[in-house]
Amino acid sequence: MPEVPENFHLVDGPLTRHKLAILRDERTPTPIFRQAMRELALIMVAEATREMPTRKATIRTPLAETEVQEISAPVCLVPVLRAGIGMLDGALALLPTATVGFMGLFRDEATAKPVEYYVNLPRDLAEYLVLVLDPMLATGGSLSATLGKLREEGARWISCIHAVAAVPGVERVSREYPDVRFYAAALDPELNEDAFIVPGLGDAGDRLYGTL
Ligand code: PRP
Repeated sequence: MPEVPENFHLVDGPLTRHKLAILRDERTPTPIFRQAMRELALIMVAEATREMPTRKATIRTPLAETEVQEISAPVCLVPVLRAGIGMLDGALALLPTATVGFMGLFRDEATAKPVEYYVNLPRDLAEYLVLVLDPMLATGGSLSATLGKLREEGARWISCIHAVAAVPGVERVSREYPDVRFYAAALDPELNEDAFIVPGLGDAGDRLYGTL
C-alpha cells in the first residue's frame, strides 16, 4: 500500500465496516443497498464535520447566558449525480438546513472520462462550507472535474465524502487539491481495465437505482 496522503482520512470502525459489508455484497438488493448507503453517509458526514470551523456565540439557556460553539458558515452539500444522491438524505438528516447544489457528471464508458451534463450551484459559493458527496472515487476524473468547477465558482473550504475510494484516484485528487479533505470508509487498491474499483462494490448508481 503506498503512503496515504495527509489530506485523506479513512473512516474506519465496526459500524462503517458493517455497512460496507452490506454495500459490497453482490447479493444485497437495491432497497437494502440504498438504506445502507444512507446510513453510511450519516456516519461519514458526522466524521467529516469534525474538521469544520466553528465560532463562538453567546446564547441564553433557560437558566443563564453561556458561550457556545456553532458551525461558522452555512453548509452546501454537493451530490455528484447520480450516485451522490444516495448519500444526500443521510447528510441532510444531520445538516437539515444545508443548501444543496448539484453536479451532473457521468463517466463515458469508452474513455472513463467525466462528461458534465448538469450543474446547479448556489451563487456566492465562497460563503459556504462545501461537502461533496459521491460514493465512488475511482480514477478521480469526476471528482477532479467537480472540484475544478467548485473552485471556479469560488468555493474555498471543501471536504469530499466517499464510501469507497481507490488508491489511484486518491493519489490524483489529493495531489491536485492538497487543501481539500477526502474521507472514505474504504481505500481499495486498484482499478480493473474498465476503471472500476476492485474489489469495490460495483456501479453504485446502478445498484442504488436498480438499473443493473
Ligand atoms: C461513478 C461514481 C463517480 C465516478 C467515479 O459515476 O459515482 O461519480 O463514477 O469514477 P472516476 O473517479 O473514475 O471519475 P458514474 O459515471 O457511474 O455515473 P452515475 O453516478 O450516474 O451512475
